[in-house]
Amino acid sequence: MEVLGVDIGGTGIKGAPVNVETGELTGERERIPTPHPATPDGVIAAVAQLVEHFNWKGPIGCGFPAVIKGGEVHTASNIAQEWIGVNAQGLLEQATGQTATIINDADAAGLAEMRFGAGKSRHGLVLIVTLGTGIGSALFIDGRLIPNTELGHIEVRGKDAERRAAESVRERKQLNWKQWARRVDEYLHTMERLLWPDLIIIGGGVSRKYERFFPHLTVRAEIVPAQLRNDAGIVGAALAAVPSRSSRARRDSK
Ligand code: BGC
Repeated sequence: MEVLGVDIGGTGIKGAPVNVETGELTGERERIPTPHPATPDGVIAAVAQLVEHFNWKGPIGCGFPAVIKGGEVHTASNIAQEWIGVNAQGLLEQATGQTATIINDADAAGLAEMRFGAGKSRHGLVLIVTLGTGIGSALFIDGRLIPNTELGHIEVRGKDAERRAAESVRERKQLNWKQWARRVDEYLHTMERLLWPDLIIIGGGVSRKYERFFPHLTVRAEIVPAQLRNDAGIVGAALAAVPSRSSRARRDSK
């Protein structure tokens, strides 16, 4: 089965068709700059443009940087406030004429890593942290996602953690790798004190450069970089559009 995976980020909206059995992209990825301001109308139009680019007829899975429940957006940390209360799934279906599933972006990346990447076959408590414009989190217990954790917003030194340790802070404040790694490490220690994960997977674009900052991380848990790198968001969003066995069973028994 193929699903069009879309990853809506602060700077770019990326998409590609994904084979959800193998996790492979079956076409070249396409990227459109995120419109500014990133309002619902602007972003939905950009996603529709992407869908048109692929001439896509079929299910769409879309990762979005906010809490998502039943297709509705509930938070707006790094996106326009107008998103709050918007039924993103409905808008996307209307704009494209295809069925759409919306999921938190970090949860999407987590699904992909757990199925095809660094968390494959891993049991126990796995925490995925994405370091980008903000800090996203995905939490899995024995392979099962606990959706919409917003652990990037835990307070560290009296400040929202993502405002201290996101990748965007490294760039904005021109921190060197060691300075930034110390902030990330402090954040991860906070996570560890509260959750005691068995494995921590670090995702986001910066995970490609893990060799620059991993040597400064001192947490007790095993810590590894994401394996799907840039594609995790797209692949995981596509996976989210595949009905799970339990939801299929619920539907079939009705
Ligand atoms: C948002 C999360 C999102 C993360 C990464 C945070 O600011 O609150 O929902 O997963 O950024 O994009």
